[in-house]
Amino acid sequence: MTIRVLTGITPSGTPHLGNYVGAIRPAIAASRASEIESFFFLADLHSLIKAQDPARTQRSTLEIAASWLACGLDPDKVWFYRQSDIPETTELMWFLTVVASKGLLNRAHAYKAAVDRNREEQLDDDAGISAGLFMYPVLMAADILIFKANRVPVGRDQIQHIEMARDFGQRFNHVYGKEFFPLPEVVIDEQVATLAGLDGRKMSKSYHNTIPLFAPREELKKLVFSILTDSRTPGEPKDTEGSALFQMYQAFATPEQTAAFAQAFAGGIGWGDAKRQLFERIDAELSPLRERYNALMAEPEKIEAILRKRGQQLREQFAIPLLKELRHAVGLRDLSQAGDAAPAHVAAKAALPLFKQYREKDGRFYFKLLDGEGKLLLQSEGFDSPRDAGQLIAVIRQADHGAALQTPLMRVETDVAEVLAALQALRDAA
Ligand code: TRP
Repeated sequence: MTIRVLTGITPSGTPHLGNYVGAIRPAIAASRASEIESFFFLADLHSLIKAQDPARTQRSTLEIAASWLACGLDPDKVWFYRQSDIPETTELMWFLTVVASKGLLNRAHAYKAAVDRNREEQLDDDAGISAGLFMYPVLMAADILIFKANRVPVGRDQIQHIEMARDFGQRFNHVYGKEFFPLPEVVIDEQVATLAGLDGRKMSKSYHNTIPLFAPREELKKLVFSILTDSRTPGEPKDTEGSALFQMYQAFATPEQTAAFAQAFAGGIGWGDAKRQLFERIDAELSPLRERYNALMAEPEKIEAILRKRGQQLREQFAIPLLKELRHAVGLRDLSQAGDAAPAHVAAKAALPLFKQYREKDGRFYFKLLDGEGKLLLQSEGFDSPRDAGQLIAVIRQADHGAALQTPLMRVETDVAEVLAALQALRDAA
């Protein structure tokens, strides 16, 4: 079975070398592996949460699309599309919204950080916070679930969102009694290089220390020559460790070239020379991409055509049939057929999960949580009294978040999302 890997790209401004080395280049390389089906999309609906200038939204979307294509993404081999071209995503978002727990969304990092900032400034908790920011994780879950993605590579800041996508998917599956959605796995690339910027800090737009990926040759040269170095003169050995210049070279060179460059550092290469070599290395890799980028930007209608075609195919092959199935599943049905609609969900209702308390030969009191089929979900340690065990049960019955399951008094024997879904089922039935 091929594995579906889905990557969402929020269009915001023009990419820089750090984005290229840390995200674009590795993602495109990974998309070429066999046995995987890659989905890459421009999260333009998400971008509206932050940027509400229409001309800028259009421009960013075009620039990011052209960037990924110029860097080698092959739109005949991967699914490359625009989020807003799949309207079924927003419909699915609503189906997920109604099973999503608001409490879980309250705990989303991005939303919580915004609330914390308001509190610091003694404003109302939700001052200036849009419902869009609050619902962000549900839209993201819809992006993932609509194509039944198995793996989602993301940065650390997005891990929680993938956990939420699992949670919403699991709840939907549970409430409507079928495995509509596989639960997506988060993929974190530990190796991901973060590139240092001009001033030696991490390259980032917020530090104003970036080198634009498609800067013209002359501008690239000027920027490379402005990289911060120490005051050692030519002839003095230079440290490779902690050198932004060396690290950048490494990101664009083979191991052999890097070793030779390290030799030159030890041998006292002058900074001007080192910068010239770095510039030539980067330019050698980027100049064909820059040419492609400029050609693509000159013909935006070609990009538009690619995105539309792929979006349309995705709708026809996956999104439209899936939504048809889901609409039926939730009960948005042809009313003329109501006569033969047995109260299906009553019949299909699976047995409820169950807490079981018992005493072992060691004289201590234990409990476990079993799902409707008797599968073990949680296993407690021994307690001195049944009351102690009962108290912990009461606490976890209320838990609608994974953190509540992290106690040494108990082991989670399966996927946390499964346990949370079982607890939710118990609460729903209560
Ligand atoms: N939120 C992601 C980011 O800012 C972009 C994104 C939107 C995404 N929807 C997604 C990523 C679905 C992965 C899966 O990086």
